[in-house]
Amino acid sequence: ADAELGGYAHFMEKEIFEQPTALENTMRGRFSEDGSTAQFGGLNISAVDLRQVDRVHLLACGSAWHACLVTEHLIERFARLPVEVDYASEFRYRNMPLGSNTLFFTISQSGETIDTLAGMREAKRKGYKVLAVSNVVGSTIAREADGGVYQHVGPEIGVASTKAFTSQILIGAMLSLYLGRMRDMSFSEGVEVVNALKGTPDLVRKVLEQAPRIREIAKRFAHYHDFLFLGRLSLFPVALEGALKLKEISYIHAEGYPAAEMKHGPIALISENCPSVFFVPSGEMFNKVVSSMQEIKARKGKIIAIATANCDLPAGLADEVITIPECHESVLPVVATVPVQLLSYYIAVELNRDVDKPRNLAKSVTVE
Ligand code: G6P
Repeated sequence: ADAELGGYAHFMEKEIFEQPTALENTMRGRFSEDGSTAQFGGLNISAVDLRQVDRVHLLACGSAWHACLVTEHLIERFARLPVEVDYASEFRYRNMPLGSNTLFFTISQSGETIDTLAGMREAKRKGYKVLAVSNVVGSTIAREADGGVYQHVGPEIGVASTKAFTSQILIGAMLSLYLGRMRDMSFSEGVEVVNALKGTPDLVRKVLEQAPRIREIAKRFAHYHDFLFLGRLSLFPVALEGALKLKEISYIHAEGYPAAEMKHGPIALISENCPSVFFVPSGEMFNKVVSSMQEIKARKGKIIAIATANCDLPAGLADEVITIPECHESVLPVVATVPVQLLSYYIAVELNRDVDKPRNLAKSVTVE
């Protein structure tokens, strides 16, 4: 195993640091020659049929479900299609009215999660095409799907998903671009998005360079028992993912919320004993997020801000600031995920947890 670890202490650490390469592999060969859209070899659905789609339904479990929530934002934004996201385990027993031109997508790293498989079978039984995003070639979900996209990030050994998750979001962005370019997205906007996506691995490298600093922050915060993760729009699912990572590998209680929703309950938890991790992008939501931070500060809550470089955060508002590079909205969720992976990883290491094999969890859940 030491050889496989290649000098890293855990597979999770290795997989976090592999992300620039993993994301390059996810994108390889998947942009059109004119550089204005994405292309996929295995969708098995014609452009004419895809053009008829008027709703997208996404099914998954765990981190892959968070990837669906990010994809929902991106599809709405770039393709202007309504999107439904379901936990596969709920969808399989619900009986919701479905439109006739709905396209189903499942996301599953392993391609073996039983609830995801069952949700997919239910959609197929109802006569829908189901496409799959998966990392494992020839997995059950990949085989039973009508078509799909392989992630190509290599085996993920750590139970807590890292490179598979960011690759799923990247595919979500590429699919949104592809569906968008069939609809209202112009050539020039397409080129802008393609260029942004191609730049993702370098942006992730820049975040990884901050690992030593994030490790210091992790040491200062490892003794807390409760955390909130707060983000808005496409960063709300990243907040959920940050909270999940921390729970999974450090056994610290954490919850993710949309930053403004915090005042409807979670704020009751805030004291000097419950820190908050805020995602702070520049742009339309900046002032709103800052005012949520002020509400936390007024209640003596500690704050770790994950802020884009061009943000003008009021001095002293955050106890710690992790700066991420300014970036296009299509890649922001990927870039913003990396600091919370590192933070939860280093907190778990600080607490001597079994990072790659956390208690009670399985890499792939094949029982209902
Ligand atoms: C398990 C893993 C999670 C994963 C989820 C879905 O709970 O611990 O990391 O996100 O299953 O797995 P899948 O293989 O379907 O993406």
